[in-house]
Amino acid sequence: MHRFHYRNDTLYAEDVPVGEAARRFGTPLYLYSHGTIVDHYLKIKEAFREVEPLICFSMKANSSSAVLASLVKRGAGLDIVSGGELYRSRRVKCPASRIVYASVGKREDEIDEAIRAGILLFNVESEPELRMINRRAHARRKKVMVTLRLNPDVEAHTHHYITTGKSENKFGLDFNTARAIIRFSNRYKNVDIAGVHIHIGSQITEAQPFVAAIRKTLRFIDTLGVVIRYFNIGGGMGIVYDKERPQGANEFAAKVLPLFEDRDFKLILEPGRFIVGNSGILVTRVVYIKKSASGKHFAIVDAGMNDLIRPSLYSAYHEILPVDCPRQAGGARSRRTVKYDVVGPICESGDFLGKDRVLPELKEGDLLAVMGAGAYGYAMSSNYNSRPRLPEVMVIKNRVHLVRPRETYADLVRGEKVPKGI
Ligand SMILES: Cc1ncc(COP(=O)(O)O)c(C=O)c1O
Repeated sequence: MHRFHYRNDTLYAEDVPVGEAARRFGTPLYLYSHGTIVDHYLKIKEAFREVEPLICFSMKANSSSAVLASLVKRGAGLDIVSGGELYRSRRVKCPASRIVYASVGKREDEIDEAIRAGILLFNVESEPELRMINRRAHARRKKVMVTLRLNPDVEAHTHHYITTGKSENKFGLDFNTARAIIRFSNRYKNVDIAGVHIHIGSQITEAQPFVAAIRKTLRFIDTLGVVIRYFNIGGGMGIVYDKERPQGANEFAAKVLPLFEDRDFKLILEPGRFIVGNSGILVTRVVYIKKSASGKHFAIVDAGMNDLIRPSLYSAYHEILPVDCPRQAGGARSRRTVKYDVVGPICESGDFLGKDRVLPELKEGDLLAVMGAGAYGYAMSSNYNSRPRLPEVMVIKNRVHLVRPRETYADLVRGEKVPKGI
């Protein structure tokens, strides 16, 4: 559930008409509902309450400071994947004891920064990385905690680009390598191997792949004969973009928690999309309407694949809604609909937000809302075609807050230099 809804044929975010925010801040823009973000976080927290897990929001989904601060203030930790994300997490005052760090390619300097910050633990993805962490911890005379990210080789039933728990994926350690690491753990004197981590993919709409991965991992750790204190089940819970019927937080917890009965693990969760996906929309304006010789109707809008790459990258579906439902002269709601490809201004045929969308007949200047854009939306945006990144606004009940300004043309060239005599 989210807090975007129609009132009198006008789309609202909480108590604010979306059109009003668009007029105030211009389009395109990202708009978040604070209430929805908090609701979704609390849903997971409540569902897993009996085991008091550490819920580390996976900030790669949305690293906007206002989003992070809303969650950290309510007790969330953060799942980070880079020095930049560590910087952001410190900026919103996330206690280091609630930060976990994954990524297959942590650099030496990033590891140093994380050790210096005193993060809770590293999710280690390879043997060379473990050696590096051990070396850097030794240099700082510290013992740092790690969990081994295991690759349980299970099918996640999601898009292959966001499947991460198959043996052919680059993520995690296979069971044999992990077993060897634990057997020779005395080689890593500055590392405390405290547990295991799995993350099998994203937008997984059923509990079965999680259950299979957890069961397999539990069976594996039972053969190790060592004490496991942390079990991190990762993120990946799917949401509704189209007609999916994903498990809710309670159903998910009901399937997962029994697997941990009689186990004395601290559970860690790393949800990203579940918390923010349906908490944000991309608001865009129709620039031109165009009809091709083949009879196709295009709604050319001011947002493009650089602003929201999911449709182009994963053929992802995002519902597209009119912000104001058009009315005919006389006030009756317009019934005429047209099938449009909603496309952006970028010089790529892959630049679309939605194809074959039946919408009320559109005209130049109309506003559209691309739903479910709160996760991997702004976070994956770029300056391609020298387009400044969008502003982000957050609605809290009946107030709109600009939480990141639109980039300027000057931002595009910041720091660039042209050598003399070129
Ligand atoms: C290690 C890890 N944890 C958590 C997540 C968050 O996934 P999701 O947004 O699907 O919950 C990801 C996403 O790629 C990830 O790589």
